[in-house]
Amino acid sequence: MIGDGKLEIRIFRSEDMTIVLQLANMYAAFDGTTSEADLVVSRFFPNGFWIAEDSGRVVGVAFGYFKDVPGEVLTRWGASKVGEITLVVVDANHRNKGIGTALLHRVLEELKKAGADRVILHCPAEAIEAKRLYDKLGFNTRAYHMTKRL
Ligand SMILES: CC(C)(COP(=O)(O)OP(=O)(O)OC[C@H]1O[C@@H](n2cnc3c(N)ncnc32)[C@H](O)[C@@H]1OP(=O)(O)O)[C@@H](O)C(=O)NCCC(=O)NCCS
Repeated sequence: MIGDGKLEIRIFRSEDMTIVLQLANMYAAFDGTTSEADLVVSRFFPNGFWIAEDSGRVVGVAFGYFKDVPGEVLTRWGASKVGEITLVVVDANHRNKGIGTALLHRVLEELKKAGADRVILHCPAEAIEAKRLYDKLGFNTRAYHMTKRL
């Protein structure tokens, strides 16, 4: 059981959008603001958009979709269809109860059911908890995204 038992992992509904954007921008903003337009692709794969609700309140969200990957890269990866996790966030007061893990498992399961045989994601270096979670779920680090002031 996750948390105190009043927790539900369910599919996203349109009325969740405001709180989803609040969570994304409060806790998972990297270089830019997440807007409704960034999540519009979810309409094409609604099964990739999951919500954690605790006693009627949205406390977490995860979203995954399909990534357009050139054939050459697919061959190199030995993959045929690639999913991408683009959003994972849990309200700070509800962390370390397994919610992030449950949300990610759900999205990964749906991507796999829909044909994905590889999944990718980008993780800011400062998102230590997220990185630990991804490592635990079996993601491998393949790149460092670097910057330098000139
Ligand atoms: C990353 C994030 C989504 C994880 O959410 P979470 O709900 O805390 O994740 P979980 O509870 O599943 O796992 C976190 C830890 O809790 C532990 N845990 C899981 N279930 C537990 C339980 N029932 N009791 C105690 N601990 C538990 C996990 O083992 C894990 O511990 P570890 O990091 O020491 O291995 C959350 O930290 C977050 O929103 N961060 C800010 C946004 C962000 O960085 N997003 C990703 C950008 S790429």
